[in-house]
Amino acid sequence: MHFLDEVEKKSRLFIETYGCQMNFSDSEIVGSVMTDAGYELTTDLQAADVVFVNTCSIRDNAEQRVRKRLRELQSLKKKKPGLIIGLLGCMAERVKEQLFDQEQLLDLIAGPDAYRDLPRLMDAATEGQKAINLILSADETYADISPVRLDGKGVSAFISIMRGCENFCSYCVVPYTRGTERSRDPETVLSEARGLFEQGYREITLLGQNVNSYHLEMHGKPVDFPYLLAEVAGISPLLRLRFATSHPKDLSDKLIHTIAAHPNICRSVHLPVQSGSNFILWEMNRNYTREWYLDRIHAIRAAIPDCTITTDIITGFCGETEADHLDTLSLMREVHFDHAYMFRYSERPGTLAAQTKKDDVPGETKSRRLNEIIQLQNRLSLESNRNDMGNIFEVLVEGHSKRSREQLSGRTSQNKMVVFPGKGLKPGDYTRVKITSCTSATLLGEVV
Ligand code: SAH
Ligand code: SF4
Ligand code: F3S
Repeated sequence: MHFLDEVEKKSRLFIETYGCQMNFSDSEIVGSVMTDAGYELTTDLQAADVVFVNTCSIRDNAEQRVRKRLRELQSLKKKKPGLIIGLLGCMAERVKEQLFDQEQLLDLIAGPDAYRDLPRLMDAATEGQKAINLILSADETYADISPVRLDGKGVSAFISIMRGCENFCSYCVVPYTRGTERSRDPETVLSEARGLFEQGYREITLLGQNVNSYHLEMHGKPVDFPYLLAEVAGISPLLRLRFATSHPKDLSDKLIHTIAAHPNICRSVHLPVQSGSNFILWEMNRNYTREWYLDRIHAIRAAIPDCTITTDIITGFCGETEADHLDTLSLMREVHFDHAYMFRYSERPGTLAAQTKKDDVPGETKSRRLNEIIQLQNRLSLESNRNDMGNIFEVLVEGHSKRSREQLSGRTSQNKMVVFPGKGLKPGDYTRVKITSCTSATLLGEVV
């Protein structure tokens, strides 16, 4: 290292992340690329020389939040003229150069496949040039990059195993912002997982937009998702495994049996259904029917009786009638989802739905339907939690509960949060907890 390098202060980078788990995982790759290039990460915005905002485009309100944040950063930049502001992630792809023209504030724009190029883009931005790279790749998986772990607790970590999506659900912007679907070399996934376990991590979530359609050829042999899952599960019985997000069309019996055969693959499947109406599922281009979805649920329940099932639901999609809405409510009751993420349909420019369908459900109707869905789900979640009362679960301790230093919090294999008093336990420990009470969101219990 040159003497000058040694005395020169490192530039400090602050990363702020919006959107899904894949985006959070990407920020850890960005952190790694940038620290390798000599930047220092900071969690103090005021101390930062560079701010990266890793953005999401999934719904209009996600983009509005980012725009609001960019305006706030603009006033910070007025106080600190040398500050470099970069916009990363999905919104970079969707809004492109307009961001440069409309909001003079951005110095750098990089799409999800351009993160290796960030140090070069930073050099260009520092020299006052327009720094932009929105090229989507057919093969970038960042397989060789060892992510900087930003979560800080040292118990749970994400590993991205595939990128992109080619399902083109008609409402969805992801295929446009993240490009072609590609799977990552399984050897690199395994070595990353082993490394995490050795560092003390006890839970790994394998990530992809369609994590269960992971597939690849290695040495002439096909490698699929159940195989990879079993390999990672084999690292240690003390390592818990989760995965997100699965697409119902690729939820195979082989996958279900792999989960059933490995106690450390968590008893919890997130399986977005979006709608309970076959007409709407067809219009959404989801590639399955209500009957197919219910068949997959029955297959999961038969093989793994203690498995929780969670979902995503969109209400008010183009052409959705009251009867379609009732189909969604009845499906929710039939499956008895343990938890759900529920959204009003938000038209995204450039998607198939925006081009060929009318966003014709009035705002008031969307809100009313969403409320009915939320009310029902709250009741189902509460019932699901009440059913756990009196039962004993193995809980992986994550840390102190948000409300009190005396209480610990952790998750069951079923991915339910449990709060309990616990002395002498530390993050990463397993303990057995008896559930004594609950709300619709949390279980409360005591160590047995
Ligand atoms: N790849 C995952 C989901 C990714 S996006 C899957 O296919 O299931 C996360 C969730 O956002 C989706 O499941 C969907 O419920 C919701 N979503 C996506 N596009 C949306 C839109 N235009 N309006 C409202 N919700 C949307
Ligand atoms: Fe979007 Fe559908 Fe791909 Fe999920 S599967 S990311 S909803 S296009
Ligand atoms: Fe959002 Fe992109 Fe994820 S649009 S949900 S950050 S893939």
